[in-house]
Amino acid sequence: MDKLSEAREKINSVDEKMAALWVERMAAVKDVSDYKIENNLPVFDASRESSLLEKNISAVPEELKPYYREFLKGVIDVSKSYQRSRLSGHDGKIRLELGDRSYDISIGRGLLSEAGKLMNLDRGVLIVTDDGVPEEYSKTVAAQCKSPVTVTLSQGEATKCLESFRVLLKTMLEARFTRGDCVVAVGGGVIGDLAGFAASAYMRGIDFYNIPTTTLSQIDSSIGGKVAIDLDGYKNTVGAFWQPKAVLVDPDILKTLDKRQIFAGLAEAVKMAVCFDAELFELFENGEPLENIDEIIRRSLMIKKSVVERDECEAGLRKVLNFGHTIGHGIETAEDGRLIHGECVALGMLPMCSQEVRGRLLSVLGKLGLPPSVTADRDKIASAMLHDKKSAQGGVTVVKSDEIGNYRLEKISFDGLFEILDEFLKVMRG
Ligand SMILES: NC(=O)c1ccc[n+]([C@@H]2O[C@H](COP(=O)([O-])OP(=O)(O)OC[C@H]3O[C@@H](n4cnc5c(N)ncnc54)[C@H](O)[C@@H]3O)[C@@H](O)[C@H]2O)c1
Repeated sequence: MDKLSEAREKINSVDEKMAALWVERMAAVKDVSDYKIENNLPVFDASRESSLLEKNISAVPEELKPYYREFLKGVIDVSKSYQRSRLSGHDGKIRLELGDRSYDISIGRGLLSEAGKLMNLDRGVLIVTDDGVPEEYSKTVAAQCKSPVTVTLSQGEATKCLESFRVLLKTMLEARFTRGDCVVAVGGGVIGDLAGFAASAYMRGIDFYNIPTTTLSQIDSSIGGKVAIDLDGYKNTVGAFWQPKAVLVDPDILKTLDKRQIFAGLAEAVKMAVCFDAELFELFENGEPLENIDEIIRRSLMIKKSVVERDECEAGLRKVLNFGHTIGHGIETAEDGRLIHGECVALGMLPMCSQEVRGRLLSVLGKLGLPPSVTADRDKIASAMLHDKKSAQGGVTVVKSDEIGNYRLEKISFDGLFEILDEFLKVMRG
């Protein structure tokens, strides 16, 4: 046998052993993913990943180290995608614990057709949706209800108003809904906020279920019980805390959502990452957000759950979820529909960060095609900010971040806030 054939024989034999070892390794990966499913843990674990790389690389000769690093990274990536596919195929449940107001958040692809098993739809059901949400989703839910009444409103923030609220209440009254009936939202944050508020008020409160259909609502707004409408264009001025009885998150529903909405919604996940979860932020930095969407949704919901459990009615900690919203809401109102909520949150976070955080944040937002430009008049933004419900006498409490994964609350005067706004607009407008 010549030297070349000999070397090839050797490679073949090593490859055979490696294949057997790889199968063994993937069996262990499967056990890890089962554990993560059971305990609601994320796939991506930055510290485990870097310690595994460093430990194994130290075992190979110097010359081979860079090649081995590349090889190992490939092995880790394949393991992560295997874990992800197992997690996304799994009908996971997160339980939000709030005593007698506790509820399950069911997450899984294809779950929409299981709504009847996860919610009590064997009664009068008001399904609220809008004309931008593909009709098939509300129809799939209606098909699982005993007695459905569907109201389809116009899409857009303007629907979150007193008139729509009245329409929902009147529909329930005319259909003779009792306190034993329920409301199901099939839509984004607008429909969820409005339908939840109608449920909170009808006959002093009836059951509410949320089936979020946008990234923003699957990541954030569908849990936590903040429901509201806007009053004369001012955001969330009239509302309540009204927890849903169950939330059903089916990421398959996002397939019909346009890219602008998908990316803007992800700004809320970036917000949570900046304040609470450096690893989630790294997932945005190092990965492709759309490929990791199931994990981003799950991880964001876990963060929000733990915040809401500790501060249901926003007495303290929950205020942190308003990171980016003080200036963001001002811009959203002043832009009058030109920019959507998540885009404004993306803008609003920037002036509240240290230089280092801002640099990293800008590069993550860049991946999402954010932030957009601000065209609204400065005074219009400032006046909308003054009307924001979070504004208190003499000043506001803003959320700032000096380090990814951490936040601080700072009380500043209105003058201080306007200085931040002016500086920000100067930078944005060059
Ligand atoms: N309650 C909370 O805790 C909370 C938190 C954050 C934001 N919000 C509120 O959420 C609202 C924004 O929500 P949003 O970003 O989901 O916007 P949205 O509800 O307006 O939905 C965005 C657009 O997507 C369309 N759409 C929805 N689902 C679709 C789908 N699956 N396929 C195709 N099109 C679809 C809608 O018709 C709409 O035109 C704001 O009013 C904001 O104040 C509430």
